[in-house]
Amino acid sequence: MSTRRRTLLTAAALWLPVAAFAAPITMGFSQVGAESEWRTANSASIKAAAKAAGITLKFADAQQKQENQVKALRSFIAQKVDVIAFSPVVESGWDTVLKEAKAAGIPVILTDRAVKVADPSLYVTFIGSDFVEEGRKAARWLLERAAKTPNATLNIVELQGTVGSAPAIDRKKGFEEVIKTNPKLQIIRSQSGEFTRAKGKEVMESFLKQRDKKIDVLFAHNDDMAIGAIQAIEEAGLKPGQDIVIISIDGVRGAFEAMKAGKLNVTVECNPLLGPQLMQLAQDVVAKKPVEKRITVEEGVFPAEVAAKELPNRKY
Ligand code: AHR
Repeated sequence: MSTRRRTLLTAAALWLPVAAFAAPITMGFSQVGAESEWRTANSASIKAAAKAAGITLKFADAQQKQENQVKALRSFIAQKVDVIAFSPVVESGWDTVLKEAKAAGIPVILTDRAVKVADPSLYVTFIGSDFVEEGRKAARWLLERAAKTPNATLNIVELQGTVGSAPAIDRKKGFEEVIKTNPKLQIIRSQSGEFTRAKGKEVMESFLKQRDKKIDVLFAHNDDMAIGAIQAIEEAGLKPGQDIVIISIDGVRGAFEAMKAGKLNVTVECNPLLGPQLMQLAQDVVAKKPVEKRITVEEGVFPAEVAAKELPNRKY
Protein backbone atom coordinates (compact mmCIF):
# COMPACT_ATOMS: atom_id res chain seq x y z
CA MET A 1 0.00 0.00 0.00
CA SER A 2 1.32 3.48 -0.83
CA THR A 3 2.30 5.87 1.95
CA ARG A 4 -0.47 8.23 0.84
CA ARG A 5 -3.18 5.55 1.11
CA ARG A 6 -1.77 4.38 4.48
CA THR A 7 -1.83 7.97 5.83
CA LEU A 8 -5.40 8.53 4.67
CA LEU A 9 -6.57 5.26 6.23
CA THR A 10 -4.80 6.04 9.51
CA ALA A 11 -6.39 9.50 9.56
CA ALA A 12 -9.81 8.00 8.89
CA ALA A 13 -9.32 5.34 11.58
CA LEU A 14 -8.45 8.04 14.12
CA TRP A 15 -11.54 10.08 13.16
CA LEU A 16 -9.29 12.96 12.11
CA PRO A 17 -10.31 15.32 9.35
CA VAL A 18 -8.68 13.72 6.29
CA ALA A 19 -8.53 17.04 4.42
CA ALA A 20 -6.20 18.40 7.09
CA PHE A 21 -3.53 15.90 6.01
CA ALA A 22 -1.23 16.73 3.09
CA ALA A 23 -0.62 13.04 2.43
CA PRO A 24 2.64 12.50 0.54
CA ILE A 25 2.29 11.42 -3.08
CA THR A 26 4.45 8.67 -4.54
CA MET A 27 5.23 9.06 -8.24
CA GLY A 28 6.78 6.36 -10.41
CA PHE A 29 8.72 8.06 -13.22
CA SER A 30 10.18 6.21 -16.19
CA GLN A 31 12.75 8.30 -18.04
CA VAL A 32 13.88 7.60 -21.63
CA GLY A 33 17.60 7.49 -20.77
CA ALA A 34 20.56 9.83 -20.60
CA GLU A 35 21.16 10.27 -24.32
CA SER A 36 21.51 14.04 -24.51
CA GLU A 37 22.27 17.28 -22.67
CA TRP A 38 18.52 17.97 -22.90
CA ARG A 39 17.69 14.70 -21.14
CA THR A 40 20.19 15.39 -18.34
CA ALA A 41 18.53 18.76 -17.71
CA ASN A 42 15.06 17.17 -17.85
CA SER A 43 15.95 14.47 -15.28
CA ALA A 44 17.53 17.06 -12.96
CA SER A 45 14.43 19.27 -13.23
CA ILE A 46 12.10 16.37 -12.37
CA LYS A 47 14.19 15.21 -9.40
CA ALA A 48 14.55 18.74 -7.96
CA ALA A 49 10.86 19.57 -8.46
CA ALA A 50 9.72 16.33 -6.79
CA LYS A 51 11.89 17.12 -3.79
CA ALA A 52 10.60 20.69 -3.60
CA ALA A 53 6.97 19.50 -3.82
CA GLY A 54 7.46 16.78 -1.18
CA ILE A 55 6.65 14.05 -3.72
CA THR A 56 8.38 10.70 -3.25
CA LEU A 57 9.93 9.91 -6.63
CA LYS A 58 10.71 6.41 -7.84
CA PHE A 59 12.93 7.20 -10.84
CA ALA A 60 13.84 4.55 -13.44
CA ASP A 61 16.20 5.11 -16.40
CA ALA A 62 15.15 2.99 -19.40
CA GLN A 63 18.41 3.40 -21.35
CA GLN A 64 16.45 4.19 -24.53
CA LYS A 65 14.67 0.79 -24.49
CA GLN A 66 10.90 0.43 -24.57
CA GLU A 67 11.05 -3.00 -22.89
CA ASN A 68 12.77 -1.40 -19.87
CA GLN A 69 10.03 1.22 -19.69
CA VAL A 70 7.29 -1.42 -19.79
CA LYS A 71 9.06 -3.30 -16.97
CA ALA A 72 9.37 -0.08 -14.93
CA LEU A 73 5.68 0.75 -15.41
CA ARG A 74 4.68 -2.77 -14.31
CA SER A 75 6.88 -2.46 -11.25
CA PHE A 76 5.24 0.91 -10.36
CA ILE A 77 1.82 -0.74 -10.72
CA ALA A 78 2.91 -3.60 -8.43
CA GLN A 79 4.18 -1.05 -5.88
CA LYS A 80 0.80 0.73 -6.01
CA VAL A 81 2.26 4.22 -6.57
CA ASP A 82 -0.24 7.10 -6.54
CA VAL A 83 0.63 8.32 -10.03
CA ILE A 84 2.81 7.20 -12.93
CA ALA A 85 4.57 9.68 -15.20
CA PHE A 86 6.75 8.74 -18.12
CA SER A 87 8.46 10.00 -21.23
CA PRO A 88 7.85 7.25 -23.78
CA VAL A 89 10.90 6.39 -25.87
CA VAL A 90 8.69 5.56 -28.89
CA GLU A 91 5.09 6.39 -29.78
CA SER A 92 3.48 2.97 -30.22
CA GLY A 93 3.16 -0.25 -28.26
CA TRP A 94 1.76 1.10 -24.99
CA ASP A 95 -1.88 -0.04 -25.01
CA THR A 96 -1.42 -3.21 -22.92
CA VAL A 97 0.63 -1.76 -20.08
CA LEU A 98 -1.49 1.39 -19.91
CA LYS A 99 -4.63 -0.77 -19.65
CA GLU A 100 -2.94 -2.51 -16.70
CA ALA A 101 -2.34 0.85 -15.00
CA LYS A 102 -5.93 1.88 -15.63
CA ALA A 103 -7.26 -1.41 -14.24
CA ALA A 104 -5.16 -0.80 -11.10
CA GLY A 105 -6.68 2.69 -10.77
CA ILE A 106 -3.32 4.46 -11.18
CA PRO A 107 -3.46 7.66 -13.26
CA VAL A 108 -0.78 8.11 -15.95
CA ILE A 109 0.75 11.43 -17.03
CA LEU A 110 2.79 11.63 -20.24
CA THR A 111 5.65 14.05 -20.20
CA ASP A 112 7.89 15.27 -23.04
CA ARG A 113 6.89 12.60 -25.60
CA ALA A 114 3.41 11.47 -26.62
CA VAL A 115 2.00 8.00 -27.36
CA LYS A 116 -0.35 6.64 -30.02
CA VAL A 117 -3.03 4.56 -28.29
CA ALA A 118 -6.45 3.42 -29.46
CA ASP A 119 -8.07 4.72 -26.27
CA PRO A 120 -6.89 8.20 -25.16
CA SER A 121 -8.45 7.67 -21.73
CA LEU A 122 -5.46 5.39 -20.97
CA TYR A 123 -3.57 8.51 -19.91
CA VAL A 124 -4.88 11.56 -18.10
CA THR A 125 -2.79 14.32 -19.61
CA PHE A 126 0.34 15.20 -21.59
CA ILE A 127 2.80 17.96 -20.82
CA GLY A 128 5.61 18.85 -23.20
CA SER A 129 6.58 20.58 -26.42
CA ASP A 130 4.88 20.90 -29.78
CA PHE A 131 7.47 18.97 -31.81
CA VAL A 132 5.74 19.57 -35.17
CA GLU A 133 5.93 23.30 -34.54
CA GLU A 134 9.63 22.98 -33.64
CA GLY A 135 10.24 21.36 -37.06
CA ARG A 136 8.28 24.17 -38.72
CA LYS A 137 10.29 26.83 -36.88
CA ALA A 138 13.56 25.24 -38.03
CA ALA A 139 12.33 25.23 -41.63
CA ARG A 140 10.96 28.79 -41.50
CA TRP A 141 14.41 30.02 -40.43
CA LEU A 142 15.91 28.20 -43.44
CA LEU A 143 13.29 29.61 -45.82
CA GLU A 144 14.16 33.15 -44.73
CA ARG A 145 17.85 32.48 -45.22
CA ALA A 146 17.22 30.85 -48.62
CA ALA A 147 15.25 33.93 -49.70
CA LYS A 148 18.55 35.87 -49.68
CA THR A 149 19.89 33.64 -52.50
CA PRO A 150 16.69 32.95 -54.48
CA ASN A 151 18.25 31.05 -57.38
CA ALA A 152 20.41 28.70 -55.36
CA THR A 153 19.40 25.07 -54.83
CA LEU A 154 20.09 23.97 -51.26
CA ASN A 155 20.87 20.32 -50.58
CA ILE A 156 19.83 19.37 -47.05
CA VAL A 157 20.92 16.38 -44.99
CA GLU A 158 18.82 15.40 -42.00
CA LEU A 159 19.89 13.70 -38.77
CA GLN A 160 16.72 12.21 -37.34
CA GLY A 161 16.14 11.37 -33.70
CA THR A 162 15.33 7.90 -32.35
CA VAL A 163 13.31 5.90 -34.88
CA GLY A 164 9.63 5.78 -33.91
CA SER A 165 9.92 8.53 -31.27
CA ALA A 166 7.46 11.41 -31.22
CA PRO A 167 10.13 14.12 -31.62
CA ALA A 168 11.71 12.38 -34.62
CA ILE A 169 8.37 11.81 -36.35
CA ASP A 170 6.93 15.25 -35.60
CA ARG A 171 10.03 17.37 -36.24
CA LYS A 172 10.50 15.70 -39.62
CA LYS A 173 6.84 16.27 -40.43
CA GLY A 174 6.88 19.98 -39.46
CA PHE A 175 10.17 20.63 -41.28
CA GLU A 176 9.03 18.94 -44.51
CA GLU A 177 5.65 20.69 -44.41
CA VAL A 178 7.36 24.10 -44.57
CA ILE A 179 10.30 23.42 -46.88
CA LYS A 180 8.08 21.94 -49.59
CA THR A 181 6.88 25.49 -50.26
CA ASN A 182 10.30 26.16 -51.84
CA PRO A 183 11.30 23.54 -54.46
CA LYS A 184 14.93 24.76 -54.29
CA LEU A 185 15.18 23.13 -50.84
CA GLN A 186 15.70 19.39 -51.11
CA ILE A 187 16.45 16.75 -48.46
CA ILE A 188 19.03 14.56 -50.16
CA ARG A 189 19.82 12.24 -47.23
CA SER A 190 18.07 11.44 -43.98
CA GLN A 191 19.06 8.95 -41.29
CA SER A 192 18.70 8.44 -37.56
CA GLY A 193 21.51 9.59 -35.29
CA GLU A 194 19.54 8.36 -32.24
CA PHE A 195 19.70 11.77 -30.53
CA THR A 196 23.33 11.15 -29.43
CA ARG A 197 26.58 12.97 -30.23
CA ALA A 198 28.45 9.75 -31.09
CA LYS A 199 25.84 8.55 -33.58
CA GLY A 200 25.32 12.06 -34.98
CA LYS A 201 29.05 12.21 -35.76
CA GLU A 202 29.09 8.71 -37.26
CA VAL A 203 26.12 9.33 -39.57
CA MET A 204 27.43 12.75 -40.64
CA GLU A 205 30.76 11.11 -41.54
CA SER A 206 28.93 8.70 -43.80
CA PHE A 207 26.93 11.56 -45.38
CA LEU A 208 30.17 13.42 -46.09
CA LYS A 209 31.81 10.36 -47.67
CA GLN A 210 29.08 10.14 -50.33
CA ARG A 211 30.46 12.73 -52.73
CA ASP A 212 27.71 12.64 -55.38
CA LYS A 213 26.09 15.88 -54.15
CA LYS A 214 27.36 18.89 -52.24
CA ILE A 215 25.84 19.29 -48.77
CA ASP A 216 24.65 22.85 -48.11
CA VAL A 217 22.54 22.45 -44.98
CA LEU A 218 22.33 20.09 -42.01
CA PHE A 219 19.06 19.80 -40.11
CA ALA A 220 19.68 17.88 -36.87
CA HIS A 221 16.70 16.88 -34.72
CA ASN A 222 18.68 17.79 -31.60
CA ASP A 223 21.72 19.80 -30.53
CA ASP A 224 23.74 16.77 -29.44
CA MET A 225 23.65 15.22 -32.92
CA ALA A 226 24.53 18.64 -34.40
CA ILE A 227 27.53 18.91 -32.06
CA GLY A 228 28.68 15.41 -33.07
CA ALA A 229 28.20 16.34 -36.74
CA ILE A 230 30.25 19.53 -36.26
CA GLN A 231 33.22 17.36 -35.27
CA ALA A 232 32.73 15.20 -38.38
CA ILE A 233 32.55 18.29 -40.62
CA GLU A 234 35.73 19.74 -39.11
CA GLU A 235 37.55 16.44 -39.46
CA ALA A 236 36.53 16.44 -43.15
CA GLY A 237 38.34 19.79 -43.52
CA LEU A 238 35.18 21.90 -43.81
CA LYS A 239 33.93 24.85 -41.77
CA PRO A 240 30.69 24.08 -39.87
CA GLY A 241 28.33 27.05 -39.90
CA GLN A 242 29.94 28.39 -43.09
CA ASP A 243 30.52 25.62 -45.64
CA ILE A 244 27.51 23.81 -44.23
CA VAL A 245 24.67 25.74 -42.55
CA ILE A 246 23.59 23.93 -39.38
CA ILE A 247 20.12 24.04 -37.84
CA SER A 248 19.23 22.10 -34.70
CA ILE A 249 16.71 21.82 -31.89
CA ASP A 250 16.83 22.00 -28.05
CA GLY A 251 18.74 25.17 -27.14
CA VAL A 252 21.16 23.52 -24.71
CA ARG A 253 24.21 25.36 -23.43
CA GLY A 254 26.49 23.33 -25.76
CA ALA A 255 24.54 24.66 -28.75
CA PHE A 256 24.94 28.27 -27.57
CA GLU A 257 28.68 27.71 -27.18
CA ALA A 258 28.84 26.25 -30.71
CA MET A 259 26.88 29.25 -32.05
CA LYS A 260 29.18 31.67 -30.22
CA ALA A 261 32.12 29.92 -31.91
CA GLY A 262 30.39 30.38 -35.31
CA LYS A 263 29.92 26.61 -35.84
CA LEU A 264 26.12 26.35 -35.50
CA ASN A 265 23.68 28.76 -37.17
CA VAL A 266 20.47 28.41 -35.20
CA THR A 267 18.80 26.34 -32.48
CA VAL A 268 15.06 26.01 -31.91
CA GLU A 269 14.23 25.84 -28.23
CA CYS A 270 12.75 22.69 -26.66
CA ASN A 271 12.30 23.30 -22.95
CA PRO A 272 13.36 20.38 -20.71
CA LEU A 273 12.56 22.14 -17.42
CA LEU A 274 9.21 20.42 -17.05
CA GLY A 275 9.63 19.29 -13.43
CA PRO A 276 7.70 22.00 -11.54
CA GLN A 277 4.69 21.86 -13.89
CA LEU A 278 4.72 18.06 -13.85
CA MET A 279 4.64 17.94 -10.04
CA GLN A 280 1.77 20.44 -9.91
CA LEU A 281 -0.12 18.35 -12.46
CA ALA A 282 0.53 15.18 -10.45
CA GLN A 283 -0.90 16.84 -7.34
CA ASP A 284 -3.98 17.97 -9.27
CA VAL A 285 -4.48 14.58 -10.89
CA VAL A 286 -4.18 12.71 -7.58
CA ALA A 287 -6.63 15.20 -6.03
CA LYS A 288 -8.94 14.43 -8.99
CA LYS A 289 -9.01 18.07 -10.12
CA PRO A 290 -9.80 18.61 -13.82
CA VAL A 291 -6.71 19.09 -16.00
CA GLU A 292 -6.17 19.87 -19.69
CA LYS A 293 -5.57 16.83 -21.92
CA ARG A 294 -2.57 18.49 -23.62
CA ILE A 295 -0.37 21.17 -22.10
CA THR A 296 2.38 22.63 -24.30
CA VAL A 297 5.16 24.99 -23.33
CA GLU A 298 6.24 28.29 -24.92
CA GLU A 299 9.53 28.13 -26.80
CA GLY A 300 11.74 30.47 -28.85
CA VAL A 301 14.19 30.39 -31.75
CA PHE A 302 17.80 31.45 -31.16
CA PRO A 303 19.99 32.32 -34.16
CA ALA A 304 23.78 32.56 -33.78
CA GLU A 305 23.62 36.40 -33.78
CA VAL A 306 22.05 36.39 -30.28
CA ALA A 307 24.10 33.52 -28.80
CA ALA A 308 26.72 35.57 -26.95
CA LYS A 309 24.07 37.76 -25.32
CA GLU A 310 21.77 34.84 -24.42
CA LEU A 311 24.38 32.34 -23.19
CA PRO A 312 24.63 33.74 -19.62
CA ASN A 313 20.82 33.50 -19.27
CA ARG A 314 20.54 29.85 -20.26
CA LYS A 315 19.28 27.59 -17.50
CA TYR A 316 20.25 24.29 -19.15
O1 AHR B 1 12.09 14.23 -26.45
C1 AHR B 1 12.91 15.34 -26.46
C2 AHR B 1 14.16 15.05 -27.23
O2 AHR B 1 14.80 13.93 -26.67
C3 AHR B 1 15.21 16.15 -27.21
O3 AHR B 1 15.14 16.99 -28.29
C4 AHR B 1 16.45 15.34 -27.33
O4 AHR B 1 17.61 16.05 -27.11
C5 AHR B 1 16.16 14.23 -26.45
O5 AHR B 1 17.01 13.21 -26.45
